[in-house]
Amino acid sequence: MLSRQIAEKLRAYETPFYLYDMALLRQTLESVVYESNKYGYRLHYAIKANYDDHLLETIRAYGLGIDCASGNELRKAIEAGFDPRTIVYAGVGKRDKELRYAIEQRILAINCESIEELHLVDRLSAEAGCTTDVALRINPDIDPKTNHCIDTGQADSKFGISYEEILEHADELKALPNLNIIGVHLHIGSQIRELHVFEHMCNKVNVIVENLERLGFSFRFVDVGGGLGVNYDVPENEPIPNFASLFSIIHNHLKVGEREVHFEFGRAIVAECGELITTVLFNKTTATGRRLVIVDASMTELIRPALYGSYHNIENITSDAEQEVKYTIVGTACESTDRFDENVRLKTTRRGDLLSIKSAGAYGMSMASRYNLHDLPGAVYSDRIE
Ligand code: LLP
Repeated sequence: MLSRQIAEKLRAYETPFYLYDMALLRQTLESVVYESNKYGYRLHYAIKANYDDHLLETIRAYGLGIDCASGNELRKAIEAGFDPRTIVYAGVGKRDKELRYAIEQRILAINCESIEELHLVDRLSAEAGCTTDVALRINPDIDPKTNHCIDTGQADSKFGISYEEILEHADELKALPNLNIIGVHLHIGSQIRELHVFEHMCNKVNVIVENLERLGFSFRFVDVGGGLGVNYDVPENEPIPNFASLFSIIHNHLKVGEREVHFEFGRAIVAECGELITTVLFNKTTATGRRLVIVDASMTELIRPALYGSYHNIENITSDAEQEVKYTIVGTACESTDRFDENVRLKTTRRGDLLSIKSAGAYGMSMASRYNLHDLPGAVYSDRIE
C-alpha cells in the first residue's frame, strides 16, 4: 500500500484525507481497457463511486464514458469533458428538470426504470421537439449473493421494470413516437465476488432479449451494469480486480449477436486506489476491557462500516512497535455505529499515529456528509506529492 511507503511525507497534510494512488488507478484502467478491447466491450465509469476531478480527468483519458444517477452527476460528467454520447443515466426517481436536461444533452441513453417514466420521457421529448434514445432497465430477479444493502436486481427491489410489466405494456411502448428504445439495461448489485452470478444473469438476459425482440423491439446494446467486487479483506493480494474473468464469463454466456455490450463499473475502478488517512487522537479502555482507539475520521468521511457493516482493512502506518494489540477503532461522530472495526490487531497504537483505512476510493468521499458540521475530507494525490 502506498501510504506505508510515504507515511512520513503524509504528516505534512491535515487529516483526515483521502490518499489516491494514481499509478494504481492508471494500471487498473489499463487493465480494464485492455481486457474489454479483446471483445469490443464499451465501458462507462459509475461516477457515483467517486466524482473527484483528478480521478475523472484520469478516467476520461482512458476513453471511458460515464454512468450517472442524477442530473447533477450528469452535469458533473459533462463539465469534466465527457462526451454526452458516451453517458448513460439510470435512476428510479428522475425529476422532470433532470430528464429535460438529459434530453437536451442528447446523451447515449436514459435508462428508464418504470412505464410511467417512459411515457414522461416521450412527452418531454415531444415538448423539446426531438426523439430520445432510451434503454429499458429490467429487473431480472437475480440474487447477486452480496450484502443485502447493495443488491438491486431481485424481484421485490425498487430498481428496474419487471419483465412481466414490460410484456404487458409492449405494444404501447413501441408506439411512443418520441422514443427510440435502443437498449436493455440491468444492474443486479454491487461488490459481487461470486462471478457465477453473472453467468446466471446472462442466461436470463438472453431469454428476455430474445422474447422482446420477437415482440418487435430491436436493441442496439445490452448494458449489463457494474457490480464487480474488490478484495476488501487483503487488498494487497488483488489490487486490480479480475476484469478478464468477468469478461470471459460474459463472452461465453451472453448471446450478443450484432449488439454492443456495455459495462458500468464504479467500485472496481476506484476502490483500491483510495485510502482514508486518519490520525489517532486518543486511546482508552472501557469498563468491559475493550481497548478503544479514537481517530479523527468518522462515518462522515467513510460511512460504509456504519451503514452496511462493511469491512475495511486498517493498518497503523507509522508505528514501529513490535507488539500487536486488539483494538476497536472508533470515529469522532456522535453515533454509536461510528465504528470502523472491532477487535482488529494493530501495532501498539499511540496518540499521533497515522492509520490507513484501505480500499476506500469508492463510495467513500462521494458519500461523505457534514454531520456534526464536520469539514469534508481533503484529497492528496500520489502524482502531486513533492
Ligand atoms: N450501474 C448502476 C445502475 C448502479 O446503480 C451502480 C451502483 C453501478 C452501475 C456501479 O456499481 P459498482 O460497479 O460500483 O458495483 N454505496 C454502496 C454501493 C452502492 C452501489 C449503487 N449502484 C457501497 O458503498 O457499497
